[in-house]
Amino acid sequence: MERWRVQEAGQEQLLRFWDELTAGQRQSLQGELALLEPRELREHCQRAQEAYVRDKSCPQRLDHNMCPVPEEFLGSVRRSGPGELRAWEEEGLHQIAQNKVAVLLLAGGQGTRLGVTYPKGMYKVGLPSGKTLYQIQAERIIRLQQLAGEKYGTNCSVPWYIMTSEFTLNPTQTFFEENNYFGVEQTNVVMFEQRMLPAVDFDGKAILERKDKIAMAPDGNGGLYKALADNHILEDMEARGILYIHVYCVDNILVKMADPVFVGFCVFKGADCGAKVVEKAYPAEPVGVVCQVDGIYQVVEYSEINPDTAEKRNPDGSLTYNAGNICNHFFTLDFLKRVARTLEPHLKYHVAIKKIPYVDKEGNLVKPVQPNGVKMEKFVFDVFQFAKNFVAFEVIREEEFSPLKNADTAEKDTPTTARRSLLWQHYRWAVKAGAKFIDARGHLIEQSSRNPELEDPPAVCEISPLMSYFGEDLDLHLNNKDISSPFILDIQRL
Ligand code: UTP
Repeated sequence: MERWRVQEAGQEQLLRFWDELTAGQRQSLQGELALLEPRELREHCQRAQEAYVRDKSCPQRLDHNMCPVPEEFLGSVRRSGPGELRAWEEEGLHQIAQNKVAVLLLAGGQGTRLGVTYPKGMYKVGLPSGKTLYQIQAERIIRLQQLAGEKYGTNCSVPWYIMTSEFTLNPTQTFFEENNYFGVEQTNVVMFEQRMLPAVDFDGKAILERKDKIAMAPDGNGGLYKALADNHILEDMEARGILYIHVYCVDNILVKMADPVFVGFCVFKGADCGAKVVEKAYPAEPVGVVCQVDGIYQVVEYSEINPDTAEKRNPDGSLTYNAGNICNHFFTLDFLKRVARTLEPHLKYHVAIKKIPYVDKEGNLVKPVQPNGVKMEKFVFDVFQFAKNFVAFEVIREEEFSPLKNADTAEKDTPTTARRSLLWQHYRWAVKAGAKFIDARGHLIEQSSRNPELEDPPAVCEISPLMSYFGEDLDLHLNNKDISSPFILDIQRL
């Protein structure tokens, strides 16, 4: 064993159980260590410990010199007229029709809060169709390709890049293969893997998760930029003629993939980098806010500002810092090239304090009840600082944002809230298209707009994304039709 490697890194504890390991276990641990360059490992562990101490002792405050995104760089669905929205949408569809738009899914996370052992995209939130998040997303791509192709008379595709990690790559690949890529052309799905980093305890020591295994975690969704370079993804995009990329998270059940309105807005504005945002629900809502600090665009967390800054209001009563980040970004290929090839090393690491299972000195496996270590992560949005022309685009939360973060024991962002958001949206679309819902006894179900967060819609109507990307073209199937709830509108069922 090249013991010098761990000595040089100051991480001898990683070989604590070496003498009792089998030949196979030694080989596997040695394999892990071989991937960690000693100097980098030492610096990583030091950086993690220092960042932990710094964050704990004096949380950073960014209130000084903060200002909201200027009006001229902020688009808004709510505040724009139908003509403007249509023009952006047409521009987006036109770009899609010319094969210039790709989507990029961030799916390397471990989904610890949801608490499932498989990738979050494979999760079923309990829809009548039993569809998973991955299937919903695949079907949205297919429908969008169809809409753009029909409008501009082309045969187009929206390549789907999927960033995975050691945890999610194999199960995601197998799931897609078993399900025939949900109808998406296989050559248009490109999966790649992000890097992993050792988890570190509060004393700056890398943690052993088993006697023969270092606790490793993906390097955050900002690991994207290294992963793009590692896996030659930008070259693949270039070869396909892609100019614009829509990056999104796996867990937002309402995500409008390659949203033509957002893409069109960004293209119209000549943006190299854009962020979709939603209005904050209340001042202390724990979402990051897109704004400028010292003239530089960034996302500021609620914990980084004082409550009175978060509560500041404009003369019309709206919150001054209102642009809630929903991890939904537009990038030009040129911007991604600049970041991946030169700027990435300038992205800072964030510290996530976590409960990390470990083996204690006696060799017992321990599942800590209190946080015991840190994971170092980069964030996808930290590249806003490099934009030459940044824009933000505000969309309507009920229509576009409902993330699945927690198990149903929590109050917010659960399978129940995600399912409700989607079924409410489909109910609204169906009512607008002229559907009449009837109950089991044939009685008309009264229309209602109860509290969508707390209650189910009065009638259940799930609409396949293959039938409608965002509520379009439903009249034909639903107008003046008596529909008994629950109802599924899907291509196979017509
Ligand atoms: P979250 O920060 O919500 O993390 O990720 P998570 O892994 O889904 O859930 P928790 O925190 O463990 O409960 C937001 C998005 O970023 C992706 C996730 O897959 C999700 O789409 N992500 C996160 C990555 O792609 N890589 C990472 O290293 C971390």
